[in-house]
Amino acid sequence: MSTPAILVENVTVHYGEVLALDAASLSLDTARICGLIGMNGSGKSTLFKAIMGMIKPDAGRVLINGAPPAKARREGGIGYVPQSEDVDWQFPLSVRDVVMMGRYGHQGFTRRPSKADRAAVDLALDRVELSEFANRQIGQLSGGQKKRAFVARGIAQGATMMLLDEPFAGVDKRSEATITRLLRELASDGCTILISTHDLHALPQLCDEAVLLMRKVLMHGPPEVVLQPEHLAMAFGLDVLNRDLPVRDVPAPDAVQDVVRNEPLRNEPAQDRS
Ligand SMILES: Nc1ncnc2c1ncn2[C@@H]1O[C@H](COP(=O)(O)OP(=O)(O)OP(=O)(O)O)[C@@H](O)[C@H]1O
Ligand SMILES: [Mg+2]
Repeated sequence: MSTPAILVENVTVHYGEVLALDAASLSLDTARICGLIGMNGSGKSTLFKAIMGMIKPDAGRVLINGAPPAKARREGGIGYVPQSEDVDWQFPLSVRDVVMMGRYGHQGFTRRPSKADRAAVDLALDRVELSEFANRQIGQLSGGQKKRAFVARGIAQGATMMLLDEPFAGVDKRSEATITRLLRELASDGCTILISTHDLHALPQLCDEAVLLMRKVLMHGPPEVVLQPEHLAMAFGLDVLNRDLPVRDVPAPDAVQDVVRNEPLRNEPAQDRS
């Protein structure tokens, strides 16, 4: 059996008394695109941070290609597109500076960009169609352009894994199509991609597999199976059934009620650590 690109084993994370991840487990193979879905506060960003090694789990472990996350980060193997709320957009960095950050691992301690670094940054900017904005302060881009700048950072870095935290939030259809095309290209080049999104309609086109998160991984499988209403009801509650979702064979309301009744995790408040 081959080593998974991402292995999350029984990872538990607390922020003080708040339980954000509760023995979450996930295994993702190389070159797959996996969509992470769950309601606000279900632990998606926390899972990304645990996979990045930015948060140390209270229990459980994360392995990237069989090694601790710190190794993959040191080697520039993981590209990270953070959720917009997690970025200081006032920071005095140009788009080019942000993308150049992806080259730090390739530079000496002086951090002086080489010709190869500059070429990699230009190429990445071109790939995300942001060359004309290279000298603009990062905060002065639109929502979709900001996301593309961070995708370019991962490309310049030569990342073999991309973690994208809600890259489609506040993004128009054109940027969404550009990002989707890029992610497909990256995956066909062997890049493993984990992407959180609330855009359930876009999921089947973009992703090979999907994960339903509610502090635990409730389900992991093909998007068309995970997106079945009775499964979404486990993670989101019944209101999703009123939406026009890309699913087949909508079960009778009684069947959904049964699923929801039998799923205690659904709307429980976070458990305190005791
Ligand atoms: N820095 C923090 N300090 C305290 N609690 C936090 C912190 N970050 C997240 N939390 C809490 O941890 C839980 C999981 O948060 P997280 O940001 O991982 O959820 P999410 O699924 O990414 O939500 P969203 O869809 O809103 O981005 C929430 O209850 C949240 O309030
Ligand atoms: Mg989040």
